[in-house]
Amino acid sequence: MADFFREPKGIPGTTAKWRDFNSSVRAEAHGRVNLIGEHTDYNHGYVLPTSIPQSTIVKLRLRPDRLVSVQTDRGLGRIEYELGSEKQTHSWRDYIQGATWLLAREGLTLRAGFDLTIQSTVPMGSGLSSSAALLVSLLKVLRDGHDLKGLGDLEISKFAQRIENEFVGARVGIMDPLAASLANEHNALFVDTESLRYEQIPLPTTKLDFVVINSGIAHRHSSTGGYNERRAECEKACELLGVGSLREVKKVEDLDALPDLYRRRARHVVTENARVLEAVEALRRGDCEKLGELFQASHRSMSQDYDVSLPEIDAMVAIANRLPNVFGARLTGGGFGGSIVVAVKAGHAVRVADQIARRYREETRQSPQVLVPKA
Ligand code: GLA
Repeated sequence: MADFFREPKGIPGTTAKWRDFNSSVRAEAHGRVNLIGEHTDYNHGYVLPTSIPQSTIVKLRLRPDRLVSVQTDRGLGRIEYELGSEKQTHSWRDYIQGATWLLAREGLTLRAGFDLTIQSTVPMGSGLSSSAALLVSLLKVLRDGHDLKGLGDLEISKFAQRIENEFVGARVGIMDPLAASLANEHNALFVDTESLRYEQIPLPTTKLDFVVINSGIAHRHSSTGGYNERRAECEKACELLGVGSLREVKKVEDLDALPDLYRRRARHVVTENARVLEAVEALRRGDCEKLGELFQASHRSMSQDYDVSLPEIDAMVAIANRLPNVFGARLTGGGFGGSIVVAVKAGHAVRVADQIARRYREETRQSPQVLVPKA
């Protein structure tokens, strides 16, 4: 009798069983705002991001063939390809194809093709890690939907970075996928990107709120090349200094012999690392004035030494810094556009955000978008 009702062993060309096709799996990853520690991750330094409410949700359902079919809510169109036929397209599709490509290369076999739906509220090109939120939620759903045992959250962050570096062509660091995978909105995630040790630092929420505003000027890491250029400049500075990474430089005087451009780039990294450590201490003490000063110094350094700000962003930061109840403001993320983060006295975030957005719109004719606090 039992033979009559035996479940079929599997589906030709896949390692999945029929019962696997009846349910869908879901994963979510949030965008991040980096509080301080910018362009330090690929220099083996320190970073301090936290989560924002905006997130990416990915749903997966296995299908009885080897096709991957993806639908998004962003008017980006639909993609369809066969597992094993991944090719770079220099578009958002590379994030999906890069993921299945890398898993196969690492010997992590996907059981079958799948349908994927992607919904996201993390604005693209805003410096808030929309690509890491996509990659981390995607890798998590692939892990759960395909039973990829042993793929931990830290491993997922490393895979997400490799997909950007090796398939998408953006030489990004590890901060964004780590934040997408491990951060939450109650803490700042303090990471030493050299050892990958991390600690959750509680945010002093009775004293402090954050405001995040998108400038309306979008960046694209891999196409603008500005980000990759900064990385190359840091590598050149290391070569001239004879060090393995800028993390090894302890004081700015050690940079004196460098040509001006490389000295400024390296000075940003060295001073920014010191600012992250001070910011962690300030958060632990609940010293918001100090945190605000560090935000302001970080912005000056990004703008003047690292050259990743824009006149419009400098204007928005200046507007914020002039307002009452503001501790300090800075450009967050890779730069060349994107968002600012403002440390504000608790209870004043909504009003401060409105004032900044209004004055920035008047001064620059750009269309800002307040992302935190969420409307
Ligand atoms: C982007 C990259 C990160 C980091 C920041 C700058 O967000 O993805 O790895 O380098 O820029 O701090």
